Amino acid sequence: MYKIAVIPGDGIGKEVMEAALHVLEAVDIEFGYTFADAGDEYQEVSGVALPQETIDIVKNSQACLFGAAGESAADVIVKLRQELDLYVNLRPVKSYPGTKCVYDDLDFVIVRENTEGLYIGIEEETEEGATALRVITRKASERICKFAFDYAKKTGRSKVTAVHKANVLKKTDGLFRGTFFKVAEEYGDIETDDRYVDATAMFFITNPHMFDVIVTTNLFGDILSDEGAGLVGGLGLIPSANIGENTGIFEPVHGSAPGHAGKGTANPSAMILSAVLMLDYLEEHDAAQTVENALIEVLGESKVVTQDLGGNASTMEMAREIRNKIENK
Ligand code: NAI
Ligand code: MG
Repeated sequence: MYKIAVIPGDGIGKEVMEAALHVLEAVDIEFGYTFADAGDEYQEVSGVALPQETIDIVKNSQACLFGAAGESAADVIVKLRQELDLYVNLRPVKSYPGTKCVYDDLDFVIVRENTEGLYIGIEEETEEGATALRVITRKASERICKFAFDYAKKTGRSKVTAVHKANVLKKTDGLFRGTFFKVAEEYGDIETDDRYVDATAMFFITNPHMFDVIVTTNLFGDILSDEGAGLVGGLGLIPSANIGENTGIFEPVHGSAPGHAGKGTANPSAMILSAVLMLDYLEEHDAAQTVENALIEVLGESKVVTQDLGGNASTMEMAREIRNKIENK
């Protein structure tokens, strides 16, 4: 039995979580869930957005499913990433049928360094304006590049592209680029190349099929993964994984969407695909494939889908349809 921490959080986080757990009941795997509090609502009653108890529950679990937080998101998910040293942010860019994709056949992943770069948050006001510190360490670069190559190997992908701006950021991205090619030597069977981030942003639009696995630093990864989301249609569809040495947190990219909250209109796909990423992380690849295929079938039929996908089903109706597909196989 897998020990899974579950943090539904705020707004539609709770609704899409209920939907995803409903779908997971259809796969032949035992999960022991521990529900944990975090977010705006919990803060209102307790004064803190992320209690130590929740951090401990996640630490003692093999994986964590996270719905969404509201205004306290930075104090919750960002803090969890730091506390648990979840140094990988994994964002698939994958086209699904029945969705508003720019290209209908994309399938690549972005591996973003999640702990340093420009996001360490050391800024300073100066006489003239302000400065921010960009920290790139050898250790963090090495482990994120290793993760990218191992991930490529494990998932049968053939190419890893490092994305940087080493022509201008000579020291920091020079180090990142150098580390990438050094790590690459240990993975002779995988094709490697590197690109500047600005050109990459353009190629996402003009020729995204050239990418397979992208590995990049924190800010560039943040921007490119949202651009990637834009290529494959809508926040209701985009999952993500935060992975460290000991555990992972799997969460939709979207937030608590107050406009949808309480109405049952949220698309559960992003949360369900986050659960698929979790199954893959737990090496339950058959189950991951089963759930993803059922979702693909429901999306492709475009009948029992939520409003953002052109239908009028509720969050749970769509989840039940997906579960039925699995159970009737
Ligand atoms: P949001 O992702 O909640 O919503 C943005 C837009 O996408 C809205 O129009 C919403 O209706 C739509 N949308 C999002 N998820 C959807 C779904 N599953 N189905 C259908 N439509 C969906 O981002 P927003 O509005 O910027 O922020 C709302 C709250 O969420 C804020 O308090 C913010 O701090 C928080 N937030 C939390 C995140 C997290 O917990 N990781 C991430 C982003 C925002
Ligand atoms: Mg972002």
